[in-house]
Amino acid sequence: MKKLLVSILAVSAMMTLCACGASSSNKLVMATNAAFPPYEYIEGKEIVGIDAEIAKLIADDLGKELIIEDMAFDSIIAAVQSGKADIAMAGMTVTEDRKQNINFSDPYTEAAQVIVVKNDSTVASPDDLAGKRIGVQIGTTGDIYAEDIENAEIERYSKYFEAINALLQDKIDAVIVDREPGKVFVSENPELKMIDEEFTVEEYAIGVAKENTELLDQINASLKKLKDSGKIDEIIGKYIKAE
Ligand code: ARG
Repeated sequence: MKKLLVSILAVSAMMTLCACGASSSNKLVMATNAAFPPYEYIEGKEIVGIDAEIAKLIADDLGKELIIEDMAFDSIIAAVQSGKADIAMAGMTVTEDRKQNINFSDPYTEAAQVIVVKNDSTVASPDDLAGKRIGVQIGTTGDIYAEDIENAEIERYSKYFEAINALLQDKIDAVIVDREPGKVFVSENPELKMIDEEFTVEEYAIGVAKENTELLDQINASLKKLKDSGKIDEIIGKYIKAE
């Protein structure tokens, strides 16, 4: 009896020691900020969108259950680093800075930063943003680019919706946002328009903790299958209609 107890203790100690991280479990925990249509947003009680659908197919492929955790955009990388989440998937642009902290999968789509203004705005190109009050979502690439704009006053919001509202109320002059979410916000608000000229071209990828190279390889293999089979294009096409 004593021996059995000892071995049970040993096994549980091993399990604790293993601290294998969420990735070795049968769950795939995705950290996101679900206020970014059409990539991730809340519909009813569910988080839907391009990223949510792609993540579901990856989880299926890996034989794991997808769990989506909604959080502030600027908490996502830390959540992945600490093992609270397995993947970052949030329309997240690959940047050299972020690569210091997490690894990125192969990109799954292209994106861009654009400028949204009111219809009567005099801003017609990125150059016109000098000296303006610019709204961004905190911690995004839009936030980073805004910092390079001469004499700009940057207003940082925790959600793009809040930046859009501030723009509608003339508290700011422009919002820098990713193209597809920008299109959604403009389509919902007839007083707003998007400037044609893109600020930058970017790529979205899935973030994984540095030490979790096995999961990264699995995700890349999965993504390749989904790209080759046309599934990724199909999902994107469902949410983004070609002009
Ligand atoms: N693509 C931009 C970035 O990576 C913005 C992403 C915002 N995503 C979100 N789910 N709110 O910084």
